[in-house]
Amino acid sequence: MTDPVAPSAIPLATAAAAPAATGLEPTTALSVENILWVRHWNEHLFSFAISRPASFRFRSGEFVMIGLPGPKGKPLLRAYSIASPAYSDELEFLSIAVEDGPLTSQLRHVQAGDQIYLGRKPTGTLVSDALLPGRRLFLISTGTGLAPFLSVARDPDIYDQFQEIVIVHSVRRVADLAYRTELEAAFADDPLIGEQAQDQLGYVPTVTREDFHTTGRIDALVASGKLFVPPLTGGREFDPAEDRIMLCGSMAMIKDFAGFLDGLGFTEGSNAAPGHYVIERAFVG
Ligand SMILES: Cc1cc2nc3c(=O)[nH]c(=O)nc-3n(C[C@H](O)[C@H](O)[C@H](O)COP(=O)(O)OP(=O)(O)OC[C@H]3O[C@@H](n4cnc5c(N)ncnc54)[C@H](O)[C@@H]3O)c2cc1C
Ligand SMILES: NC(=O)c1ccc[n+]([C@@H]2O[C@H](COP(=O)([O-])OP(=O)(O)OC[C@H]3O[C@@H](n4cnc5c(N)ncnc54)[C@H](OP(=O)(O)O)[C@@H]3O)[C@@H](O)[C@H]2O)c1
Repeated sequence: MTDPVAPSAIPLATAAAAPAATGLEPTTALSVENILWVRHWNEHLFSFAISRPASFRFRSGEFVMIGLPGPKGKPLLRAYSIASPAYSDELEFLSIAVEDGPLTSQLRHVQAGDQIYLGRKPTGTLVSDALLPGRRLFLISTGTGLAPFLSVARDPDIYDQFQEIVIVHSVRRVADLAYRTELEAAFADDPLIGEQAQDQLGYVPTVTREDFHTTGRIDALVASGKLFVPPLTGGREFDPAEDRIMLCGSMAMIKDFAGFLDGLGFTEGSNAAPGHYVIERAFVG
C-alpha cells in the first residue's frame, strides 16, 4: 500500500462513535455474526470481515444485507457485496463511510469482537453463471464497486472459465485505490489462486482527480485503447465474440457503459438468461 497514511493513524470521525453493538438477537431473516478484523484505507473507506455461519452459501460476486441496530433498536440494514470468494471461511466487505449515512456513520466505528446482523439470503447478478463462455473477462468498477470483483477474482473457478481476467478500478483519489498492493501483486500470497492469477489476472487502476500513472475515466481508457495494453492479448477494443464484462459502481457509469456495450452488439445477461455482460449498482442514488 502506498497510501502514506497508516491505517491506524486515520482519524475516524468528527462525530462521537456509537456504542459497540452487543446482545443482538438473530431473527428468521438475520443471523448475528462477529466482526473479525477491520482495516481503514482512508477516512471514508474501510474493509472488515465477519464470521461465516456454516449454513451460509453464496456464489462469488453476490451481495447480502448486513446491518446494526437502528435508533429504535430495529435492525438497520443495507445491501453489501461480499468481497471474499465463495470458499472463504470468513465474509469480507469493502465499505464507504458516508457522512451522516444512517448505517455507515455507525459501521465505520466497528471493531473486532463487535456483533453485526447478516442476512440469510445472498443474491445478485455479478456471477459467472449469468455470463456466456468467453476468453477475456473485464471486471469494471468505480469506487466501492470493486468489492464483488475481489470475490470473483479470488475464486479459483474463474481462472478455469476465462483465459484472461482484468480488474479495472476508477477512483477519484490515489488513496481510494483499496487493495492496490494486493492487486498489483495479482494476489501472489493467495495459496489458492496466487499461481494462476500471476499468469491470468491484470489490474488497471485509474485516478480521475489527482496525478497518477493512469488518469481519466474508464470510457476514455476504452476509447484510447489504453485498457487493452500488454500483457493483455487480443484486440484493442471490446468484442462480443470473446469478451465478457461485469460492471459495478455508480449508476451513471453503468448506464453509460451498458448503452455503449449494447451499441457494440453485447447483450445483458441474467441468472435466467446468460449474456455478454452483467451489471449491478454499488449504491442507491
Ligand atoms: C446491490 C448493492 C450492493 C452494495 N454494495 C456495497 C458495498 O459493497 N460497499 C458499500 O460501501 N456500499 C454498498 N452498497 C451501498 C450500501 O447499501 C449503503 O448505501 C451504504 O452502506 C451507505 O449506507 P448509509 O446508511 O450510511 O447511507 P445511505 O442512506 O444508504 O446512502 C446515502 C448516500 O450515500 C451515497 N452512497 C451510498 N453508498 C455508496 C457507495 N458504496 N459508494 C458511493 N456512494 C455511496 C449515495 O449517494 C446514497 O444516496 C450497495 C448497494 C446496493 C444496492
Ligand atoms: N472519493 C472521495 O474522495 C470522496 C470524499 C468524500 C466524499 N465522497 C463522496 O462519496 C460519494 C461517492 O464517491 P466515490 O468517489 O466513491 O464515487 P464516484 O463519485 O462515483 O467516483 C468514482 C469514480 O467513478 C468515476 N465516474 C463517475 N461517474 C462516471 C461515469 N458516468 N462514467 C465513468 N466514470 C465515472 C469518477 O470519475 P470522476 O472523478 O471524473 O467523476 C471516479 O473515478 C460521493 O457522494 C462523494 O461526494 C467521496
